Amino acid sequence: MRRPLLVGNWKMHTTILEAYLLVSEIGKCAAGLDDRDVLLAPPQIALHEVARVLQNSDVSIASQNVCWKGEGAFTGEISPTMVKAAGGVAAIIGHSERRQIFHEDNEMINKRVLGALKYDLMPILCIGETLEERESDKTFSVLEDQIRQGLAGVTAENMEKTVVAYEPVWAIGTGKTATKEQAQEVHAFIRKLLAEMYEKDIAESVRILYGGSVKPDNVDELMAQTDIDGALVGGAALKADSFCRIINFI
Ligand code: PGA
Repeated sequence: MRRPLLVGNWKMHTTILEAYLLVSEIGKCAAGLDDRDVLLAPPQIALHEVARVLQNSDVSIASQNVCWKGEGAFTGEISPTMVKAAGGVAAIIGHSERRQIFHEDNEMINKRVLGALKYDLMPILCIGETLEERESDKTFSVLEDQIRQGLAGVTAENMEKTVVAYEPVWAIGTGKTATKEQAQEVHAFIRKLLAEMYEKDIAESVRILYGGSVKPDNVDELMAQTDIDGALVGGAALKADSFCRIINFI
């Protein structure tokens, strides 16, 4: 069955020193969790330091974004080879903040997904609808476009290594979590779509995370849903005690 995956996305928070202090705490409470995977995505500048602290631990490192090229003239970007050399194994791609604030479109996000796979990083493709899209009944069509375009050219073999994160934009950092029923409905839709695009077995093996105001007091009910295989956590990943409670979901 699908192994749960809990990801802490620190976004643009923590200096290198603060990252060191936070990861030192999180590393302790994540020790010995052998039935689930835990990933941390610190700011890029702290990635190497966080990976160093977590060496020989049960927690792995993800980048918050990644370029599609191994190197080159791409000012401001980080390459998959750099992420790997710093100790990273995965990359968050297409986060709604990248889409909305930095205008990354599905085409660019697809290039990033293919680039991550090419260099053997696990892509975590984020998708999600805005409140306006939800209220005008466009949720499923928006998500379908984001998935079909974001995964264009991803082979069945590579799909097995790819993670999808459903993050309704209206739930991110707002304290407004999707209800467990709303989240499960969308996750089931995503899995059905993946079964159409690939095979049923592949769709059954892909991990689909929920993100958007995941907190210690809602993680258990979200994780109990059939098609929710993990969480992508922002705000609550910035405090060791709340993230520790989340990764220890029951
Ligand atoms: P949040 O962020 O947990 O603070 O809502 C989630 C995310 O953006 O990944």
